[in-house]
Amino acid sequence: MILVSKTYLSRANSPFKATDLEALLQTCRANNTTVNVTGALLHHNQYFLQLIEGEEQQVGHIYRRIEQDPRHEILSILFEDEISARFFPDWSMGYREAETIHSDALNRILESAKMAGERFPISDFLLMFGNED
Ligand SMILES: Cc1cc2nc3c(=O)[nH]c(=O)nc-3n(C[C@H](O)[C@H](O)[C@H](O)COP(=O)(O)O)c2cc1C
Repeated sequence: MILVSKTYLSRANSPFKATDLEALLQTCRANNTTVNVTGALLHHNQYFLQLIEGEEQQVGHIYRRIEQDPRHEILSILFEDEISARFFPDWSMGYREAETIHSDALNRILESAKMAGERFPISDFLLMFGNED
């Protein structure tokens, strides 16, 4: 079995209300659990950063669903690779608002995003989730 991880950045065409986010998370968690895809979702204003991971075919299946959602205005893959173990084995879809993440971690993400042509450092993404409040 080949395990892969995919991380993308997206801008929604309009802001998500709290109720939209709740509904989105419910759908994500239900769909992802069915195919044993795990991951994490970060939200700020109209922006989403999401990591999905799991068996290659299932990740492809979920990603196609995601990219077909008409609420994405722009969507760009930052990182995609084979992994030896899951980063979020216990989360069907972990969720954070960017405001709750330590500013050092967020700054590192922003710096990383500016490094055109370089690989997105997944360790920074993971760091954000460890640095809540
Ligand atoms: C920011 C964002 C993240 C999403 N993440 C997931 C996801 O992890 N899993 C998933 O199945 N769909 C995800 N979607 C896709 C939508 O929820 C999509 O509308 C839904 O999967 C369609 O499901 P349905 O065919 O059961 O209505 C995401 C959409 C957006 C905008």
